[in-house]
Amino acid sequence: MKSTLFLVAAIGAQACQRERNFEQPHRHTKRQEAVAFPPALDPNEKALVDSFANTSIATWSYYYTHGAHVAGTNKTMAQWTADRWAEFGFSSRLDEYYVYLNYPVSNSLQLTYSNGSIFTPSLKEDVLAEDETTSYPNSIPTFHGYSFSGNASAEYVYVGRGQQVDFNRLLALGVELEGKIALAKYGGPFRGLKVKNAQEHGMIGCVIFSDPSDDGNITEAKGVAAYPNGPARNPTTVQRGSVQFLSIYPGDPTTPGYTSKEDSLRADISHSTPHIPSLPISWKDAQPILQALNGYGTNGTSVNRTGWVGAIPGVTYSTGQGSPATLSLSNLMEPEIKWIWDAVGIINGTNQDEVVIVGNHRDAWIVGGAADPNSGSAVLIELAKAFGGLTETGWKPRRTIVLCSWDAEEYGLVGSTEWMEEYIPWLKTAAVSYLNIDIAVSGPIPDVAASPDLHAIAIATMKKIVWPYRGATNYTMYDVWKSESGHVGVLGSGSDYTSFLHRGIAAIDMGAGGGANDPVYPYHSNYDSYHWMSTFGDPGFHTHKAMGQYLTLLLYHMVNDAVVPLEPSNYGPEMRTYLKALNTTLASSNGTLDIGPLDSAIGVFEAAAGQFNALRSLAVNTSNAELLTVTNHKARDFSRGFTSQGGLPGREFFQHLIFAPGMDTGYAPVTFPGITEAVMGGNFTLAGEFVEKTAQAVLVAAGMLKT
Ligand SMILES: *[C@@H]1O[C@H](CO)[C@@H](O)[C@H](O)[C@H]1NC(C)=O
Ligand SMILES: *[C@@H]1O[C@H](CO)[C@@H](O)[C@H](O)[C@H]1NC(C)=O
Ligand SMILES: *[C@@H]1O[C@H](CO)[C@@H](O)[C@H](O)[C@H]1NC(C)=O
Ligand SMILES: *[C@@H]1O[C@H](CO)[C@@H](O)[C@H](O)[C@H]1NC(C)=O
Ligand SMILES: *[C@@H]1O[C@H](CO)[C@@H](O)[C@H](O)[C@H]1NC(C)=O
Ligand SMILES: *[C@@H]1O[C@H](CO)[C@@H](O)[C@H](O)[C@H]1NC(C)=O
Ligand SMILES: *[C@@H]1O[C@H](CO)[C@@H](O)[C@H](O)[C@H]1NC(C)=O
Ligand SMILES: *[C@@H]1O[C@H](CO)[C@@H](O)[C@H](O)[C@H]1NC(C)=O
Ligand SMILES: *[C@@H]1O[C@H](CO)[C@@H](O)[C@H](O)[C@H]1NC(C)=O
Ligand SMILES: *[C@@H]1O[C@H](CO)[C@@H](O)[C@H](O)[C@H]1NC(C)=O
Ligand SMILES: *[C@@H]1O[C@H](CO)[C@@H](O)[C@H](O)[C@H]1NC(C)=O
Ligand SMILES: *[C@@H]1O[C@H](CO)[C@@H](O)[C@H](O)[C@H]1NC(C)=O
Ligand SMILES: [Zn+2]
Repeated sequence: MKSTLFLVAAIGAQACQRERNFEQPHRHTKRQEAVAFPPALDPNEKALVDSFANTSIATWSYYYTHGAHVAGTNKTMAQWTADRWAEFGFSSRLDEYYVYLNYPVSNSLQLTYSNGSIFTPSLKEDVLAEDETTSYPNSIPTFHGYSFSGNASAEYVYVGRGQQVDFNRLLALGVELEGKIALAKYGGPFRGLKVKNAQEHGMIGCVIFSDPSDDGNITEAKGVAAYPNGPARNPTTVQRGSVQFLSIYPGDPTTPGYTSKEDSLRADISHSTPHIPSLPISWKDAQPILQALNGYGTNGTSVNRTGWVGAIPGVTYSTGQGSPATLSLSNLMEPEIKWIWDAVGIINGTNQDEVVIVGNHRDAWIVGGAADPNSGSAVLIELAKAFGGLTETGWKPRRTIVLCSWDAEEYGLVGSTEWMEEYIPWLKTAAVSYLNIDIAVSGPIPDVAASPDLHAIAIATMKKIVWPYRGATNYTMYDVWKSESGHVGVLGSGSDYTSFLHRGIAAIDMGAGGGANDPVYPYHSNYDSYHWMSTFGDPGFHTHKAMGQYLTLLLYHMVNDAVVPLEPSNYGPEMRTYLKALNTTLASSNGTLDIGPLDSAIGVFEAAAGQFNALRSLAVNTSNAELLTVTNHKARDFSRGFTSQGGLPGREFFQHLIFAPGMDTGYAPVTFPGITEAVMGGNFTLAGEFVEKTAQAVLVAAGMLKT
């Protein structure tokens, strides 16, 4: 998962599915403060950075993007990954899980006009002579992972981006939903939640289309040629993807809360997957279907909802109430319980009770996957090569390095969640942090989201990387990041950091994406191919190289520095910001809530963090190794305190009480989620309970830091 996102400042990178939003004008990049150029590196840093070569990254990328590797297929590719890591000195293996997946057998869609004439969408992406992998005989059809097998035939309604607020607006406009098919636009909430919302309103099917309104200035309507002739979206581009209810439960839906082995008990899946059929379509296929609603119900402008009106020519984005046109949708899926393979590569550290995990998923919806996820996979091999070279000079990590190549991320973070569920006792005691790289590169602009304790090292490391930017070679990654966003995002969900974060492990997610004037990234489409990447996404693979160098230096400091580079105290100002936001939400609600207990718990945390910093300084200044170990372990452990065994209301998997994916967004985060969502839902009893729980969690974290 993961796409590119430039959302409002408060929200940062979300992986495997992020949306583009161009509200923030991009300023002219120039160095805003003293950052050494070229960056000053110590010999080990220099050796790691110099080990990176665009040519070998291109070789790894080529391998990953020339064979089908949808979840649960291509064990050869998993073994190949483990073998490369082994060549560079990692002891590697495959960890196998036995999970529920489903695959497309056949599907169809038909539009019937009132006069009886019929339009049949192709449901296919054009095969392009220029892009060899689009014609592979084992190309993956367009479909939704974990979608429901079934048929639906009915009138249909355009539901905007399919968020709860969109449905509320339709109800206010008097639009009948029950028994109809939903036609939804991609963008905004995770696609599975669009289907969930449609289902909860009694709708019987859901069709989701891509729209060029998400493409900034790079559209055919604005005179830009479409792929393969130019960087605009090919009109037949289809976004595949999972329709699991990601904000309820990630992982194998048949084994919620425990790992998937051959003899595992299997649960009913209806709590976290849809029971109405759905299909993804291109804007070309969507155009006549939307046009048949023109003039029926309320037009798009009058609906007056953010993100409602798109940019398909000749379409008014009307609700369609009263249109006699009908859709017939059929979606036949084959359910299977089958093996998936996580490749794992380890270099033991001197301190084996301190472990840093680096993860990237390997499975893709298509033969290619040049950006999602294999830009990250290519970078990870180059990272292994760099560390292999450094260990040959006699260097040994202080902490253990674990590399993971996850399978079945696309269906719902399955490989990483099952692995976490198997190794949780070890992870809870030993994990210092989890570093995620999913789409390493789909454009030129770096983007990072992380738990607060990782902000300082994440930003400091950016100053050590030369970042290629629009032809210039005189910028650091920090310069570009600072001028493009300058904000470390809050983690929501959409990629494999999720299950680690929600067990209280510090986590970061990183990638580089495109802005409003960059080539349109064909997310989850056949055109996310080696040809697209080397022609438009990252010609020369220079951004791959810079992104890989960044992850490598970040990992190096995490496993090498005597002082674990985590800053627990940064949770203080971050929680103050979230509290302010909560207070604002409260002010515009219709109830009252005493957030005093949370306010004072944060005060206790701030004091404990101050004590912790003083103790750590003492350990450093007196070179007291024993004391340093104590403070390193406090930094490793304190964030476990933010989790609650019972989790959030209706979704016990999500245990972190400071941030979580929004229940109705999936990707985008919500802060103090237990409280905020209860307030937004109008349940102030529940909100009060979560003020207590959240305050308690903050106190537990404070207690672990205290000296
Ligand atoms: C990089 O060089 C360009 C022109 O060559 C200049 O405009 C820009 O300010 C420089 N950037 C920095 C960060 O020095
Ligand atoms: C697995 O992936 C590799 C590398 O892309 C490819 O060469 C091979 O054909 C794939 N295997 C299958 C069965 O598709
Ligand atoms: C039926 O209606 C559609 C949509 O208005 C139109 O495009 C088509 O030409 C009509 N077919 C016939 C046979 O009139
Ligand atoms: C939408 O409807 C409003 C109110 O009926 C009307 O003023 C407006 O012109 C319509 N816009 C379009 C694009 O049809
Ligand atoms: C659209 O909605 C906003 C608030 O969501 C409101 O302020 C504005 O008046 C509405 N515009 C129209 C034309 O109804
Ligand atoms: C569902 O639709 C498909 C395609 O139109 C058809 O072949 C199949 O028989 C239908 N299944 C049921 C159960 O109606
Ligand atoms: C790493 O440490 C583990 C646990 O102590 C041990 O089982 C394993 O053999 C070690 N691996 C290597 C390559 O030394
Ligand atoms: C599109 O390009 C124009 C002209 O370069 C620019 O002013 C505008 O901000 C761009 N749009 C976006 C969304 O960036
Ligand atoms: C690697 O970078 C060099 C120098 O910019 C370039 O000439 C070459 O084409 C790149 N290699 C690949 C495989 O893109
Ligand atoms: C919340 O806002 C109110 C004013 O609306 C203010 O009096 C109060 O101090 C704020 N509380 C916190 C914890 O910020
Ligand atoms: C308060 O607001 C919530 C959500 O905004 C709504 O569901 C609820 O009905 C409202 N309650 C009252 C008493 O107005
Ligand atoms: C509000 O939450 C409480 C639990 O805290 C629950 O018992 C109650 O049913 C909820 N009320 C509504 C209207 O959902
Ligand atoms: Zn991904």
